[in-house]
Amino acid sequence: MGQVWGYRGFGGAEVQEFFERPDPSPGPGEVLVRVEAAGVNPLDHLLRSGHVPTMNGEVPFPQVLGMEAAGTVLALGDGVTGLAVGDRVTGFALTFAGTYAETTLLLAESTARIPDALPATWAATIPVAGTTALDVVDQLDLPSGASVLVNGIGGGVGIAVAQVARDRGLVVTGTASAAKRDLVTALGATFADYSEGDVVERLRPSAPFDAVVDTVGGESLRALAPLAAKPDRVISVGDFSVTEIGGVAVERRLGREGLERVARLMVEGRLDPHITATYPLARAHEALALVESRHATGKLVLDLSL
Ligand SMILES: NC(=O)c1ccc[n+]([C@@H]2O[C@H](COP(=O)([O-])OP(=O)(O)OC[C@H]3O[C@@H](n4cnc5c(N)ncnc54)[C@H](OP(=O)(O)O)[C@@H]3O)[C@@H](O)[C@H]2O)c1
Repeated sequence: MGQVWGYRGFGGAEVQEFFERPDPSPGPGEVLVRVEAAGVNPLDHLLRSGHVPTMNGEVPFPQVLGMEAAGTVLALGDGVTGLAVGDRVTGFALTFAGTYAETTLLLAESTARIPDALPATWAATIPVAGTTALDVVDQLDLPSGASVLVNGIGGGVGIAVAQVARDRGLVVTGTASAAKRDLVTALGATFADYSEGDVVERLRPSAPFDAVVDTVGGESLRALAPLAAKPDRVISVGDFSVTEIGGVAVERRLGREGLERVARLMVEGRLDPHITATYPLARAHEALALVESRHATGKLVLDLSL
């Protein structure tokens, strides 16, 4: 049996609660892990709220929150290759398995071994924010010296995009609120304060940007999109209506190779997930509430050793 943090029906934070579940047993292509750390992401509260329509009505309750985790392999299902019991790994959870939990099931093909030097808390941020950033920058495939505007540069994905882009020689500008100025500057990016005055007018002299990477969506995306050199150089990670304005959605690759590449960037000192707070499982609600406020800085991570 293990403690998990989840919900018994769709709703706000009030539907969240602890419960116990038996350790799941891994089916074909699945890996049972002892969770050491779990990333906290916007999709966690969006799923809990029932705001992902494709899944409404098909969700077995109770649900466990969380979709990414780092930990140690306890058991392997049939057909799993490249992983062994005792390996330290990071990966995506099996649908409906959840990772705000002491044990969970990861998808073997979306799980990778991690270097000994990599702390579990960092590794837990690789599947969602880390590989999204990698996919964005790979998809843009811009030459060194090209310019990128990152909308929402202070969040988990934005911070990672900024670093992967800088690592490829791109010139990065990012929008964030005033409190994130020092962080953005430390990333080697030019800071653009969206919380005061008209950020579009302030950025216009620097336009066109060779690409606009959007992590915010909605009106903010639509306001900044014209600053891109061409409509199809606007790429959004969270607002798939970007295609209505000629932009593109990030194409996610969820395989082992991307996880390994991001882990390497981390151990080589080229990518820091900027974990601004860690929480024990017992305080998962605080971490998720901060992400749900839409103004978190960097990554928030559950550390099961706390
Ligand atoms: N497609 C995928 O596989 C995938 C993967 C990961 C994430 N996503 C999506 O990407 C989005 C971002 O995820 P995340 O993990 O980076 O979220 P996050 O860590 O919670 O960060 C959100 C950031 O947005 C900033 N922000 C809010 N309103 C803004 C505005 N008007 N202009 C500029 N910045 C603004 C906030 O900073 P301030 O305090 O400065 O406002 C905050 O730092 C979410 O919608 C998420 O679901 C998609």
